[in-house]
Amino acid sequence: MAAGGLFSAPAQADINRALLNDKPAFIADVMRQMTLDEKIGQLRLISIGADMPKPQLIKEIAAGRIGGSFNTVTPAENRPLQDAAVRQSRMKIPLFFAYDVVHGHRTVFPISLAQASSWDMDAIALSARTSAVEAAADGIDMTFAPMVDITHDPRWGRTSEGFGEDPYLVSQIARVSVEALQGDRGPDGKAPIGANGVMAAVKHFALYGAVEGGRDYNVVNMNPMRMYDDYLPPYRAAIDAGAGAVMVALNSINGVPASSNTWLLQDLLRKDWGFKGLTVSDHGAIFELIKHGVASNESEAAELAIKAGIDMSMADQIYLKELPELVSSGKVPMAAIDNAVREILGAKYDMGLFHDPYLRIGDGSHDPADINAENRLHRDAARDVARKSMVLLENRAQTLPLKKTGTIALVGPLADAHIDMMGSWSAAGVARQSITLKQGLQDALAGKGKLLTARGANITEDKRIVDYLNFLNWDTPEVVQDKRKPEAMIAEAVKIAKRSDVIVAAVGEARGMSHESSSRTSLDLPANQLALLKALKKTGKPLVLVLMNGRPLALNWERENADAILETWYSGTEGGHAIADVLFGDVNPSGKLPITFPRSVGQIPAYYNHQRVGRPFTEGKPGNYTSQYFEEPNGPLYPFGYGLSYTTFALSDVALSKNTLPRDGEIEASITVKNTGKRDGATVVQLYIQDVAASVVRPVKELKDFRKVMLKAGEEQVVRFTIDESKLKFHNAQLQYVAESGDFNVEIGLDSKTVKTQKFTLQ
Ligand code: BGC
Repeated sequence: MAAGGLFSAPAQADINRALLNDKPAFIADVMRQMTLDEKIGQLRLISIGADMPKPQLIKEIAAGRIGGSFNTVTPAENRPLQDAAVRQSRMKIPLFFAYDVVHGHRTVFPISLAQASSWDMDAIALSARTSAVEAAADGIDMTFAPMVDITHDPRWGRTSEGFGEDPYLVSQIARVSVEALQGDRGPDGKAPIGANGVMAAVKHFALYGAVEGGRDYNVVNMNPMRMYDDYLPPYRAAIDAGAGAVMVALNSINGVPASSNTWLLQDLLRKDWGFKGLTVSDHGAIFELIKHGVASNESEAAELAIKAGIDMSMADQIYLKELPELVSSGKVPMAAIDNAVREILGAKYDMGLFHDPYLRIGDGSHDPADINAENRLHRDAARDVARKSMVLLENRAQTLPLKKTGTIALVGPLADAHIDMMGSWSAAGVARQSITLKQGLQDALAGKGKLLTARGANITEDKRIVDYLNFLNWDTPEVVQDKRKPEAMIAEAVKIAKRSDVIVAAVGEARGMSHESSSRTSLDLPANQLALLKALKKTGKPLVLVLMNGRPLALNWERENADAILETWYSGTEGGHAIADVLFGDVNPSGKLPITFPRSVGQIPAYYNHQRVGRPFTEGKPGNYTSQYFEEPNGPLYPFGYGLSYTTFALSDVALSKNTLPRDGEIEASITVKNTGKRDGATVVQLYIQDVAASVVRPVKELKDFRKVMLKAGEEQVVRFTIDESKLKFHNAQLQYVAESGDFNVEIGLDSKTVKTQKFTLQ
């Protein structure tokens, strides 16, 4: 690319530190000195390792042709790159370093779907804060998180990366995550992010979780009311919480790819929502505009993306190659480039990098001798969050908690699976540092009970799937097959089961099965794992399933036949210890499903807050000509919000402070929750509201508030929720955000299905 572009470059340029405390003036001053080529260089976000060899990288940075990079994870790796930017490039503009810190960095926390199951905002904040501290200590300035895509389709592999199906719950999590990742930003929330924080790039904007058929990267077609009420709120919550960046989704929306979608990136994001930060494309997404069929070549793709409002292009060369010509020919106005550069420099300013380019990288004097040193991990925090993220789905005859005496048979392909404990997107986590279930049980049983182990089954016997999974996670083959015949493995497992008091079977999915691009057509356990469970069941020994998976599974046989089922998702570095804590009752499980478990793939979508229909199916009143599937029971296998405890809870009736809500008033809905069992425990009291009749079809119910309460055995507590007009608002057919007068049902329960109800009227 020719130097100079439209400008004749001043020989010398420097950052005017006198202006540092005035962001707009400072950035204007930097931009005033930049050539077109330098500006275009800033728009380039490169993937280190994938894009180019290191010596070339340093040269490109020194030439001012790179704005930021991702995928380096140590200060020592990042320092020479930053040196090239701030010591060798003419403008001395610092780089920023990004990474996918999604559920932990060195310490891996439970996957996002698991964290959502905690319904515990302090736990989620602890995970995000700890991740930020660890990432910042490794020289990282930005994370591509939180991932707040709502999904109604568990076939989608990235279900594991998100926080489930509910707009209210996911919005709360989005806010808490952004605040915890970015850390304290001063009294007005606008100070640069500190040395212990990282900028949050909320993703994937927008509606990525609604890809048709749950097939990754597929199209999204959605009516605007649903978009605004059900899918957009979490992104908005992240932005309102101050997320500095937005990653644009790979999918198209109603025929226009997000990456070229002017309505999405300008009208909605910037004008309506007032977003004042950086937008980045997803990996290679600008090039993919050609594949979507909206651009016929790279020049058109670049033109569409920059005009739509993608500031930074991730992992492609298209802006670099195409924008100089597009600007000189007048196809792309200089203002479009300037707007993008302003946001990139603004983000760097907000990451504190103009004040100190080495804010997170440091000067080398504190570089850890061993980047994976044990003392760099936050195991207690990971164990704490993991315990809170597990959902007890079944517990017949109080099979759980287990005793620490006697003999336990531990079987299953996930019983000793370091890598799978971590889940997908495990950042800089090291698999061997994760505690497997086997290790966790051994540590808990030490000197007391006995543990017998047998693998029992591979993840699957389907070679095609194994090959797929091992190709997907290309660093090392992750799914290592036991070469024995399935029957031989089962026989061995049955043998130890017979010598034991109880069977613990760790079954589910390899982590690669719940991953980007890993969409499934079935939600069943692989057949060979189910065969193992059936053989174990025949021993007559109590059968406890410890599930590890990143999406709802169709657990029909399992539900009927297992004595207990604990959904542990992928529980992270301390997973094995945390699972043992719950299995032995040192911790009473308190998680609740953040997503509906359907009975079969055929039921999808099976989310709880679906719109009403003219011929609803009513449980207990079957009948023809109702909205149902005739060959199997209707309704979910496990509803949204569901989860058991080792104790029991009872709810009183709902009391309302009044039956009429004036527009400017409030109603208090209260309910008494009592721990009626013999153990201390926590539960989540959930408030749902149904609009009885509105101008458009509304959901059967919607979560509007919740409270996680800890109660001692026998203790009771009154939980109070405030309802005002804001909780009743929705987007009408004209997309106005309104609350319409009339009746509303208040439903309070410990899951979305079994609720106590009251009625009030909005005046
Ligand atoms: C994913 C993003 C991720 C990016 C960078 C893409 O494939 O869709 O979620 O942040 O890669 O790693």
